Amino acid sequence: ILAYQPDPELMQYYRNTLVNFGLMKFLKDFVPERITKIDLCRLVLNLGYPKESISNQRFLTTKQVAGILVSLILNDPQVNQSQSYSDFAAYHHPTSDYTIPKLLSDLTSAKKIMVISGAGISTSLGIPDFRSFKGLYAQLEHLNLKDPQKVFDMGAFQKDPSIFYSIAHLVLPPEGRFSMLHSFIKLLQDKGKLLRNYTQNIDNLESRVGIHPDKLIQCHGSFGSASCLTCSNRFAGHKIFEHIRHQHVPRCSTCWKTIQEAVIIHGVIKPDITFFGEDLPKKFYRLLEPDCQTCDLVIVVGTSLKVEPVSSIIDKIPRSVPRVLINKDPIPDRDFDLSLIGLCDDVVCHLTRELGASWDIPHPNFVPSTEFTVTPHELYSKSYNIVKKET
Ligand code: OAD
Repeated sequence: ILAYQPDPELMQYYRNTLVNFGLMKFLKDFVPERITKIDLCRLVLNLGYPKESISNQRFLTTKQVAGILVSLILNDPQVNQSQSYSDFAAYHHPTSDYTIPKLLSDLTSAKKIMVISGAGISTSLGIPDFRSFKGLYAQLEHLNLKDPQKVFDMGAFQKDPSIFYSIAHLVLPPEGRFSMLHSFIKLLQDKGKLLRNYTQNIDNLESRVGIHPDKLIQCHGSFGSASCLTCSNRFAGHKIFEHIRHQHVPRCSTCWKTIQEAVIIHGVIKPDITFFGEDLPKKFYRLLEPDCQTCDLVIVVGTSLKVEPVSSIIDKIPRSVPRVLINKDPIPDRDFDLSLIGLCDDVVCHLTRELGASWDIPHPNFVPSTEFTVTPHELYSKSYNIVKKET
């Protein structure tokens, strides 16, 4: 094949099709489903790409040559400028073989990283997540609720706020501590790379670690503030922490004076957490669309992605943007380019170690000399287990 002389007329025809009609049309017209490796190589040469790009084709599989062809086209500046290219790129990830080295290089170059986080980023601090084996919902069996999520249900709270206050202490944030993952998000912010952190967490630790309010969307609200359900007066969240610790229902002192015994909810203060049945903050809806269109890397971390609308965010992001999962458990039914399975603090420690000293995470538990084992996941493709090496 390397002795093959490209046909100038064919080259003109192929390139015209690509530039004017885009990659999809080109593939549809010139790449049959059962194309041979030799024919793919001819296409590469007839498009005017150098022989060197396929010079070791004897050792490549047909799929690899097809990958080379697509990648040459996607990186071709002439094709790149055409409108059809961007249409294609929006739906097809150019690097289906996304790897850890590629992620490292993207972390270095990315400027608009979206982090979508959940309860798993706080479990290392002793706050339970919700749906794990020993998560909060598993700890609520004694309440005999048909659905443990009812403890965060607005209708149920209005009927009897004491149920929520009997368990809220279990998810109360610890004073003055945050996890290495929280510090990693702060590091992304300090490096000017954080577009937004969409967190489902209510512990408010993102604010405590220093994520700027403009960079943070607390999709489910937080313990950071609380409001009286009668007069809507707003309080600093910590004002009701003692009540929460003692499992008492806090009440607003102004409304308390006019308490009507018959109305159980009168003057009750509720943390500004978004309960099921309540709307998410307006900021979420205002920023979601533009953020999805501008982000250049998505990191989903410590969440089972079970709760809407956060679980659908990744479906709104153009397919050309790499999406990476960092989680203790795989989420096989969602389409990630790369899944790094392990404790999130360990995973980011490994990644930042690989990136060098300028990426040291400012956290007391960050030890740059820690070593990790990285192995392909036994069940799922594009997934790796990352585990701290025993010392
Ligand atoms: P879940 O409990 O559903 O999922 C937590 C995920 O984090 C699981 O997939 C765990 O495997 C993973 N995980 C736990 N510890 C981890 C660690 N150290 N490192 C990495 N991964 C870890 O929690 P969320 O997805 O956050 O709503 O739940 C979403 C919403 O459901 C919550 O915001 C909450 C709940 O109902 C409200 O509070 C209103």
